[in-house]
Amino acid sequence: MPSKAAPTRDLVLESTTLWDFPTQNYGDRPHGDNKYRGVTPAFVIWNVLQRYTKEGDLVVDPMAGSGTTIDVAREMGRQVVAYDIAPTREDVLQNDARCLPLGDSVATCVFVDSPYGDNIQYNDHPNCIGKISANSPRFFEELEKCIAECHRVLKPHGVLAWMISDQWNKRKFVPVGLLLYQRLTRYFEPIDLVCIARRNQTSHTGIWHYRARRNNFFLRGFKYLFLMRKTSTDSAVVAESRAQYKTVRRKRIHKRRLKKL
Ligand SMILES: C[S@@+](CC[C@H](N)C(=O)[O-])C[C@H]1O[C@@H](n2cnc3c(N)ncnc32)[C@H](O)[C@@H]1O
Repeated sequence: MPSKAAPTRDLVLESTTLWDFPTQNYGDRPHGDNKYRGVTPAFVIWNVLQRYTKEGDLVVDPMAGSGTTIDVAREMGRQVVAYDIAPTREDVLQNDARCLPLGDSVATCVFVDSPYGDNIQYNDHPNCIGKISANSPRFFEELEKCIAECHRVLKPHGVLAWMISDQWNKRKFVPVGLLLYQRLTRYFEPIDLVCIARRNQTSHTGIWHYRARRNNFFLRGFKYLFLMRKTSTDSAVVAESRAQYKTVRRKRIHKRRLKKL
């Protein structure tokens, strides 16, 4: 059968755990929108999908933003479903990442580039997790609800790739990545941890480098990419979150039935 995937010339699979891409995009077609604040480098998604999926597999992005995952996945012949709390294009469906409208164990790979705290204003939606400060434990509690959903929709041995960065916020360092990693390990087993060089950041200007030296703090130089695998046996946390999910669904169905009466 001929391959449906478009050829991906000039792309080389990364072989170390330090990835440094000079531009957001590759090739001559856009992947996502490089003007979208917080857009993911398309090479990151290409590398993840190339390693952990094959043609026809289902890829899910619960926080799709400008849709980089959609463009990369389609070009590679993968099936893709993408959601965002405030969609910016038609093929991104409106949904909260804490409750995915998908069945259990359907996806081969879930890619997430979540908010890193409240440093970027993505939209005005009240349920945007990017409105919660990473200084608040609630930020990680809400992200854990997303983790549980990613786990539920992944097939056994499916891969979750999650990008995030630490924060230097209000004169305080918050190890956002490491705090998230703790939560991820409650559900998944680690495959590896990649560092992605941060380029084209608004803070990478002379004045910010001067401030960082003068005020003795560091500008963020990298992001984490956590690569996690769903094991075939559920941990105690997963069993509990499954039970909670079922209770929420039962309550919703009950509410809908009452409405019909
Ligand atoms: C870092 S951006 C994603 C960038 C995207 N990968 C791209 O390349 O354009 C994070 C996204 O998370 C979305 N988001 C925040 N809270 C959400 C929620 N509760 N459910 C779904 N999406 C959410 C934001 O609207 C934002 O688009």
